[in-house]
This record gives sequence, structure tokens and C-alpha cells, in this order.
Amino acid sequence: MPPRTTGVCYYPEHWPEDQWPEDAARMVAAGLTWVRIGEFAWSRIEPRPGAFDFGWLDRAIDVLGAAGLKVILGTPTATPPHWVLDKHPDMLAVDAAGKPRKFGSRRHYCFSHRGYRDECYRIVTLLGERYGKNPHIHAWQIDNEYGCHDTTVSYSSAARDAFRDWCAQRYQSADALNRAWGNVFWSMEYDEIDDIDLPNLTVTEPNPAHVLAFRRFSSDQVVSFNKLQADVLRKHTDRPLIHNYMGRELAFDHFAVGADLDIASWDSYPIGFLSDRIEASADHKAHFLRQGDPDMQAFHHDIYRAVGRGRWWVMEQQPGPVNWAPYNPAPLPGMARLWAHEAFAHGAEAVCYFRWRQASFAQEQQHAGLLRPDSADAPALAEAAQVARELADFPETGTATARVALVFDYASAWAWETQPQGADFDYFRLTFATYRALRRAGLSVDVVNATGDILGYDLILAPGIATLPQSLLDQLARFKGTALIGPRSNAKTPEMAIPVPLPPNLPGLDAVVSLVESLPPGTTVPLEQGGAFAHWFEHLDSAAVSETTADGRPAIASAGKLHYLAGWPDEAAFDRIIAGACAAVGIETIALPEGLRIRDTTTHRFWFNYSPEDITFRGLTHKAAGVTWQTM
Ligand code: GAL
Repeated sequence: MPPRTTGVCYYPEHWPEDQWPEDAARMVAAGLTWVRIGEFAWSRIEPRPGAFDFGWLDRAIDVLGAAGLKVILGTPTATPPHWVLDKHPDMLAVDAAGKPRKFGSRRHYCFSHRGYRDECYRIVTLLGERYGKNPHIHAWQIDNEYGCHDTTVSYSSAARDAFRDWCAQRYQSADALNRAWGNVFWSMEYDEIDDIDLPNLTVTEPNPAHVLAFRRFSSDQVVSFNKLQADVLRKHTDRPLIHNYMGRELAFDHFAVGADLDIASWDSYPIGFLSDRIEASADHKAHFLRQGDPDMQAFHHDIYRAVGRGRWWVMEQQPGPVNWAPYNPAPLPGMARLWAHEAFAHGAEAVCYFRWRQASFAQEQQHAGLLRPDSADAPALAEAAQVARELADFPETGTATARVALVFDYASAWAWETQPQGADFDYFRLTFATYRALRRAGLSVDVVNATGDILGYDLILAPGIATLPQSLLDQLARFKGTALIGPRSNAKTPEMAIPVPLPPNLPGLDAVVSLVESLPPGTTVPLEQGGAFAHWFEHLDSAAVSETTADGRPAIASAGKLHYLAGWPDEAAFDRIIAGACAAVGIETIALPEGLRIRDTTTHRFWFNYSPEDITFRGLTHKAAGVTWQTM
């Protein structure tokens, strides 16, 4: 396992050149190993078409490298300069209302635009040729945060043309497409694939099969856009290729993008996410205001460990208040350290802070860095330095394979966004609720792609997987552990229709979903053994009922250790069901106090206290916003 290291995101083009050596020296003094640069610098690399200025970038890399830092060089394709747009006026993404998403911020491109892809090919080739063998460059980041600002889906004419090609490949003929989508409904049949438009601006909802196909296509466009750059870079460098993914971003299949890269990374903004990216009570948000949600980071660490096939980083770690959430409180002292150690406990190879110096200009001037705008130390700098010292002193600790796995599938997020059938049926929300329940029970969890391997686990959970891949069904038939499938799993065909025979169609399980209902907030279906279903309840016809609702209807159907869950458990029901499932396979659970979380490595148990108060639990006192570790 590579040594665990820290780093920082730096923008040499934002600062006078004579400041670079001192910046680099201070980074080294803080124990940082990595410095990521260049990902937004296109206008300074190529100020006019074909007119290049690599001199400043050469010198920046030299200064940073000479100081002993390892450079991660970003490809600048998230921020094409204005002249690129002048050359390709139709390269902008178009929103669902048909309006172009204009120049003046970033990510102003449509993934399908061929001319823009050619520009990317050209600039990435030049960067690869120039820096591919540079000894100071130890990794590459491709683009920046695919999907950020809702940019995966575009309704441009470039997207429409590419979607028709995609449909022609997938369905081969208009007849086959009509049958697959059920276009006889409302006389939506097409004579030609070239008659198909994008599923926006329709009078009422478009055919969900059409929407799901478009979502798959949109994801594939991200995959091929990324691959185009990866293929170019591979010709020139043998350094690892990385992309920085996001929190709660499901619009493209990260497993598919990750297959073309060496390392997955993600950008972790715990306090911003608590404020604007998760559903939780006002009390919960107040309690964790300056710490972030105790499970949100861990969930993404586990997802991206899977996306990176074991190799993953945090590319951007929040160091202080951000600028972009509705409210932006400052982290409690200790949290910048806790977040970093938590990432390492989940197997991160590196944690890089965003950013070095707070900018005094432009969009992110209110976003903290490790330095203030006047170059004085900001509070997180000392914590970053402490983490680096602790890593240097700390014995190696390997990433353990968990006994419990959560099956995860991006296409299911698109399916349920397309046809939620209840205002709060959201795939991320359901999987995160499941993950939280596992973590409340003190469990370390692996995330597994729906097409991945489950046979090594003792307990797997697969909530909300719209279509269970045949490979998963085959494994389930042989699986020796306990499987909790559902709710709403295997509920659709790949073309977004209800399968007949009716779901869930699980090996050996005598159960049929005869009807589904969604439940508004505040209403539940209480369960006989405690807790309730909320949001979602399925009526099961089954002769294999193992648990019922309080009024005697099937809640869980089972065949041996395979269980189908007919609803979305609330916290009490989840805690009970998970404790029972773990007991059945001999996995110890620990009912943790609110805010205290565990992660086991091969050598140590780490405890993270996300609470603003000290917690004493089982004889150990955990400091507020603190992390402790003990040998296993
Ligand atoms: C990330 C992005 C960075 C910066 C940061 C601010 O989403 O990659 O460039 O904008 O957010 O929190």
C-alpha cells in the first residue's frame, strides 16, 4: 500500500510569480506531499487559438517540484476560454427549457459537441507531449468534477444528433425501439430513428423509457469524453490518471468512468453537504452544523473506493467555510483533522485540501483556504500539518475488506428520478438511509457495483436496484450469506417497463409484488415487530412471509437467508432488521451513540466523534470533534 499523504490545490496563475517559492516552502513545512495545479488555466496556457504560453507553467512546476512537492497536473477542459466558444458557438450545453448555459463561469460545454471534443484532444495532446515525462508530475487529473452544476445532461442539437446515433446502435431499427419503449401508447411511434427528439419540452411527461435511454446516453457521453482524454494521456505518460468526483452526484455511471482511470478521487465538503445535499431534521442539522453529517463522508469514501477498484483519494477537502451553500458555518476546531483521518481509515492514499490561499477575487472569494487572502495562516493549516506529522508517526494500517456490502447502481438513480412514483422516492436517499443504519450498528461497509462480486460477503443489502443484473441473480442463487433485497428492487426491465412475471423474481423466493404505494411525509405502515415502513410500501403475495405489518400484511418474504423487504424501513425498523441479519451470520453490532462512528482497518479500530460534545462510551472518552484509534 502506498504511504498515506496530504496535499493541496494551488493556482499559481492567481499569484505573482515571486510568491511561488515561499508558497512551496510553506507547503513543504506543513508536511504536504502533493500540489494539484492547472485544471482551470486554459486561458493562460493558450490565450489565443494556437498561441501558447507554457513558460509560466514550466516555471511553476519547476518551483513546486524543486521544493520537493509532487505535482498533479489537471487538464483544463472544464474551463474553455472565450475564443473556444467563438470558434464553436454551438458548443454550449442547453438546459431542459431549451436555453443555452452561457460563458462566464465554468463547465460551459456539451459533452456531445464534436468540435469541443477536438479542442480537448488538441490541448490534452499538447500537455501530454510537454509534461508526460516531467519528473515533477506524479499524477494527472482529467477535467474537473464531471456533472458539477448539473452539466451531465444537455439538450443541445449536438446531443440530439449523438442520441440518435446512440439509439441506432442500441436498437438497430425504429421498430425495435418502438417495441422496447412501448411507443404504441399515445401513438408515439417513430418511422425513423432520426425522427426522435430529446425528451424535453413535451406537453406532459415524456415516455419514461425514452427518458431512461437519454439518461444512459448522457452518462455514456461522459464516459467517452473522459476516455478520449485518458487515451491521449496514456500515450505520453505512465503516471496515474485521476478524476475528482463529487458528493451526491449520480448523473453518470462513475464505475464506467472509473474503469478508464487508475485512481478515483472525490471532493469532500462536509459542512456544505450537510446544509444543502442531504435530507435530515432541523435538529440533526443544528447538532452537526460545524462538523458535517457523521455518515456522508464515509459513504462517499466507500463508494469511491469501489469506483477506484481499491485506489482512491480525497482531491479536495474542505478546510474552513465554503461559499456555495445556503449557509456557511466554520468547522469546529479539530474537524479538518478528523475528516482527513476518516478518509485514511477508509483507505484513502491521499487527502488534498482545497485550496492553498483564499482568493480575494471572483466567485470563491468567501471560500476559506489553508492561508487567508493576506497569506497569514488560516485555522486549518495547523490541523493539516498535525495530520501530516501523525501520518509520519503512525504505523501502516491496511484497508480491511468488510463483511457487509451495499450494492450500488447509478442507473437505478436515473430510473427512480424518471419515475419516482412518490415525491420523496430518491435512490440516493434510500441507499444513504441504509448505509446510515449499518453505521449506527458500528459496521464497516464495502460498496459493490451491481455488476460486481458479492460472494465474499456475509451480508449484502441491495435496496432500490431497478434491474438486478443477471450476474447478481446468478450469484444470489449460490450466495451463502444473508441477502436483504428491496424495497423496489428488480422492479423494472432495462427498458423501464414492469416485468411479467411480476417482481421481484428472486431465485427460489415465492413472492410477487401485486401493487405499490408511496406514502406522504408523516404517514407510515407500522410493523408487527417494531418500527415502520415510511415513504414506500409494496403489497406482496407470498407464501413465504417472515415478518408482517402490524395489521398482518407481508412485510418481509424469505427463502432461507434471502429476504425481500416490502417497504422502506424507518430508523427503528432498519436498526432491528440489520441487528437481526447480522446476528444470523455472526457479525457483531454495536449500537453507537449519536455522532460516534467506527471504521475498522486491518490493524486498528478508528473512532470518530462528530458530536460537539465529548462522548464516553464503553469506558473510552472520545473528545468532541476528535478521532482516536486503538489496535484491534
Ligand atoms: C469544487 C470544485 C472546486 C471549487 C470547490 C469550492 O466543487 O472542484 O474548483 O469550486 O468546489 O468548494
